[in-house]
Amino acid sequence: MSQEYAKLVYNGKEVELPLVRGTMGEVALDISHLRKETGMVTIDPSFMNTASCYSKITFIDGEKGILCYRGIPIEKLVENTRFIETAYLLLHGKLPNVEQSDKFSNLLTENSLLHEDMRHFFDRFPRGSHPMSIMGTMQNAFSTFYSNVDSLSLKEAIDISAARIMSTFRTMAAFAYKRSIGEPVVYPRHDLPFCANFLNMMFDSPVRPYEINPNVVKILNSLLILHADHEQNCSTTAVRTVGSAQVNLYSTISAGIAALSGPLHGGANQAVIEMLQRIVRDGGNVKKYIDRAKDKNSSFRLMGFGHRVYKTYDPRARLIKKQCDDFLKQMSINDPLLDVAMQLEETALNDNYFIERNLYPNVDFYSGIIYRAMGIPENMFTVMFALARLPGWIAHWKEMIGSKTKITRPRQIYIGKTPKQN
Ligand code: CMC
Repeated sequence: MSQEYAKLVYNGKEVELPLVRGTMGEVALDISHLRKETGMVTIDPSFMNTASCYSKITFIDGEKGILCYRGIPIEKLVENTRFIETAYLLLHGKLPNVEQSDKFSNLLTENSLLHEDMRHFFDRFPRGSHPMSIMGTMQNAFSTFYSNVDSLSLKEAIDISAARIMSTFRTMAAFAYKRSIGEPVVYPRHDLPFCANFLNMMFDSPVRPYEINPNVVKILNSLLILHADHEQNCSTTAVRTVGSAQVNLYSTISAGIAALSGPLHGGANQAVIEMLQRIVRDGGNVKKYIDRAKDKNSSFRLMGFGHRVYKTYDPRARLIKKQCDDFLKQMSINDPLLDVAMQLEETALNDNYFIERNLYPNVDFYSGIIYRAMGIPENMFTVMFALARLPGWIAHWKEMIGSKTKITRPRQIYIGKTPKQN
């Protein structure tokens, strides 16, 4: 196809802006030469209309509710793969064969132990520290314990760095939890696969051995797959931005953890449960909270609702809602929060405010109810999200450094005082 252009006319001059098309049909205006040719920049606060990069990792159709990793719909990945295979897919662009899968699995096992000196850090955080703050700090501290990994010194295979980050993050997350409840830490076991190993580190205790439940392992695999990547969201953009300055990979990931912790991003999964609990404590009056979410004089928002990209039902939320219902039945758990969540959803989806603004449940709306049923405490929910998102962040970092991206450095429109005004 011959190159297409859009014309920009200003001050009697014309500038041709090349059109760029993605493989799934999105069209963009390439403005990379705009400033050189016109002296002008563009302004797009919060990047509502800006594609910040080319990427081959994840595709979202926000109008149709489609999400694919490397061209494979998430529904298929949940059905046919384990989390570590999906992680490999994100990192390498194709699903692993048996040999590659075994090799990656072995790397995860070999890298599961945390440097023993780092374990002592857990004793120094104040009791009650949020685990996401602990995880971000620990991740940043990694660069002082492990050999530097940055775009210039990436000598080892990406699989080794990825395995080290994913596997030790999992160990640290469980350590942070054990420390928060005052129980001795449980070390990773070489005989257990990724998800079962995590559950064992979380729930085994010297006085109460943990029995691994295959249903819990299955649902954890599925939740991790569904959270594994989501193209240029806030935390991935943070990772790409920080990484573009050639910061080492560990600190770069730590920036992603910080961004994810916010309640408008990954922190929403904890905020949803807190909101549902509040509604239950308040007598279960769902309508009152829907009205509050619509009230422009109130800062209250319906947590777990709305999305920058999805203008329809989030495909992850659709799967998680079904899994939530099935899993609670399997575990014979009757959680009143699920009833409230379903009433909230039904009320919102029939309300003009939500209809007009295309606000639907997002990935965080039902996931917390599953985590609760698994026995994972609320302040660990966002850590679970981060654990899942690691392969996505690393894949984006790898893609970014491989494409020789320049340092990220947007422009601004200055609207402050001029020297004359001083
Ligand atoms: N409750 C009530 N009103 C909402 C909500 C909500 N959850 N979300 C958006 N709106 C309204 C908003 O007030 C605005 O109304 P108006 O046009 O009258 O000013 C309109 O919908 C558009 O909202 P926005 O804030 O301009 O949209 P955005 O794309 O900047 O924000 C969002 C997206 C996800 C931050 C937002 O929908 C939100 O705050 N949701 C609640 C938090 C949440 O669930 N976050 C998790 C997102 S998905 C997982 C992830 O990214 O980690």
